[in-house]
Amino acid sequence: MDGNGRWAARKRRPRTFGHQAGVKAVRRTIEYCLKHGIPHLTLFAFSSENWQRPEQEVQRLLDLFMRALEKEVFQLHENNVRLNFVGDLSRFSRRLQEKMHTVAELTASNRALYLNIAINYGGRWDIVQAARRLAAAIQAGTIDGQSVSEKDFSQFIALHGSPAPDLLIRTGGEQRISNFLLWQLAYTELWFTETLWPDFGAEQLDRAIADFQQRERRFGKITSSQAGPD
Ligand code: IPE
Ligand code: MG
Repeated sequence: MDGNGRWAARKRRPRTFGHQAGVKAVRRTIEYCLKHGIPHLTLFAFSSENWQRPEQEVQRLLDLFMRALEKEVFQLHENNVRLNFVGDLSRFSRRLQEKMHTVAELTASNRALYLNIAINYGGRWDIVQAARRLAAAIQAGTIDGQSVSEKDFSQFIALHGSPAPDLLIRTGGEQRISNFLLWQLAYTELWFTETLWPDFGAEQLDRAIADFQQRERRFGKITSSQAGPD
């Protein structure tokens, strides 16, 4: 979700105004997933690099996040949405950590949409935390270090219960991953748009999905029509 600050600047408003508008785009995206039966959505809300922004912006972002959670949780729960938070949560205030914990518990048995919020998340952090937990399992003797497979390793990666993403959408014009789900994106289709996040909604989602449906996903293999004569 990129482009909140630029969206606000174009309107000569403070960056926080853009973040507030961004919350509405989050709501539209969740509604779209529910309406179209998209069962998994992961939102990159706050990266481990976002701490480097001015303290005031970080504080406002986290306040906004807390308030949005408080405000939206009951409706999300009614809509059968399960919330899950991924990232190094230990850096947040106790109050916010408790809030995330309560929300996750409350919605744990919901099944219409698995909504993952990546917060203080980084793809490299994810791989390193997996490696650390794998090392502990090896030390404890539950896994043999010499025969660790990709499947074994992926058990320790965040979101391991969910399928790898089919489609990654990045708004705001940059064409890069910016340390999002590095492990999980290996075969994900990527879709970039100039649209700034606060302007994002059903129209862009329709376009992204139509584009996705045109693509041929070979996962490194070839199709029979490509095989050619022996
Ligand atoms: C994305 O918008 C929101 C978060 C990172 C939380 P930005 O704040 O990065 O907006 P731009 O990129 O400055 O326009
Ligand atoms: Mg940005």
